[in-house]
Amino acid sequence: MVIHESCPGYPKEPFASLVAGYPGEDAYAPSDFRVEWGPVFHRGRLDRSARVLLLGQDPAAHEAIARRILVGEAGQRAQGLLRKVGITSSYVMVNVYLYSVYGQAAGNRHVADPDIVGYRNQWLDALLVDSAVTAVVAFGQLAQRAFGLWAAVRPEAAGRLHVAAVKHPTYAEGAARGSGQPLAVTTARQLSDWNAHLDGLRSAVEPEGDVDATPYGQTWSETELVEIPERDLPAGVPPWWRSVESWAVRAGADPEEKRATIRVAVPKGARPWQQT
Ligand code: URA
Repeated sequence: MVIHESCPGYPKEPFASLVAGYPGEDAYAPSDFRVEWGPVFHRGRLDRSARVLLLGQDPAAHEAIARRILVGEAGQRAQGLLRKVGITSSYVMVNVYLYSVYGQAAGNRHVADPDIVGYRNQWLDALLVDSAVTAVVAFGQLAQRAFGLWAAVRPEAAGRLHVAAVKHPTYAEGAARGSGQPLAVTTARQLSDWNAHLDGLRSAVEPEGDVDATPYGQTWSETELVEIPERDLPAGVPPWWRSVESWAVRAGADPEEKRATIRVAVPKGARPWQQT
């Protein structure tokens, strides 16, 4: 029998209370957030063993299904970044927003909303005050702002942290779409930005395993997309939920149907009935 690992969820305080009393439509307007898919809170260690905190932006399609953040391609890139710092398990991740942003402009509009900040800061307090975390990776400008809003009220705790404000894991795709530049150009820019932060992170974080000392090249190598560890996801989820294959996508003929639908498909390589 294979013994599986899984994320234990939120049995202990303060997380038990945080997931019991989360903000809903009162703080997150359904015009700007996909509240219908529910809040997605975190991924990683909540037992005070985390050495690095990753601050992402908002959950997307894979996260809505897996109920943990940063599990799709962005998550695998983030996992690869951790490996370059020698961290395989001792991390924790939260997002700026609990719900998926509906429209890019909405993301910028709400980052400093008092109810959103108040709840987010309770998570950051729980994870960063008197904790083993020594470095924070802020993915993208919103994450950087959100961290700054917390740091302003906790200057002492913030002051002892190394902060790496790096480009968001899917910056390259967004920048290519927005500017018309080739994806190869925006990808190289993103990886050069990540390279520039590696030394600072390595000197701020005590590694728990081998450090992958190779810098990023012009594009992601296969080993730089790292599968999500089994222990990060709820018990019993199929292994392909952690794979580097894409398995969840918003689908629909019009915006209404697309907002209401996530199509989940078992990736080709994970279909045991086809392996004859
Ligand atoms: N998924 C997340 O949970 N956060 C991000 O920032 C991107 C994808």
